[in-house]
Amino acid sequence: MKPTLAFDVYGTLIDTHGLVSRLRETAGEKAEEFSRIWRQKQLEYSFRRGLMQNYETFAVCTRNALDYACTYCRVPFTVKQKDDLFERYRTLPAFDDVEGSLRALDASGFRMFAFSNGSAEAVEALLAAAGIREHFLDVVSVDDLKSFKPNPAVYSHFLRKSGTTGSSSAWLISSNPFDVIGAVSAGMRAVWVKRSPEAIFDPWGIEPTLTISSLTELEESISVYLAVEGTGNC
Ligand code: 2OP
Repeated sequence: MKPTLAFDVYGTLIDTHGLVSRLRETAGEKAEEFSRIWRQKQLEYSFRRGLMQNYETFAVCTRNALDYACTYCRVPFTVKQKDDLFERYRTLPAFDDVEGSLRALDASGFRMFAFSNGSAEAVEALLAAAGIREHFLDVVSVDDLKSFKPNPAVYSHFLRKSGTTGSSSAWLISSNPFDVIGAVSAGMRAVWVKRSPEAIFDPWGIEPTLTISSLTELEESISVYLAVEGTGNC
């Protein structure tokens, strides 16, 4: 049987900086920084809520982070403008390499799931808007557990929900180093999609199983790895 692939969504399939041109209309030259702070705080809030066991959905983390970014960057968005941005976050675009790569992997028989901090409802809407929902067998959300990545329980939940037997036959595919480290630490294999040459992997001594720069390299990289592993040389 082909391996199970758990695709991270925000930042891996979907471009979390896809609203920069929209932000530029009001934030001007601060748009890139605004987008970066927004994403950074969204993740920080999810980590903190997970640790505090004070769960609210990823959408709440996103909305709170939007308010923080407005204050930090001193960009006076009105409530209506913030509502508009928040709504547009539900239909962020996919990266250019996503559609073709998913189609090819699907045709090759990989068992593919979307696995996200986002609620199932939000991820379903996002994938449908990007025209890629059909490639996934299901959407697995941390919302089922009321916690967030990288809690090891959410990776175990993925394995159960996807019906994967043996954690090493499941691969997380993610551009987010914290997610890759979380999955490897929970016993899964993980591919880091290093979308930018400047991206830095956390120096924790827990390494990705594979690193690629685009999803177009994914199928061949996994196939070569498994073939070499089959010879006992991995
Ligand atoms: C996701 O779970 C980590 O934001 C990322 O989709």
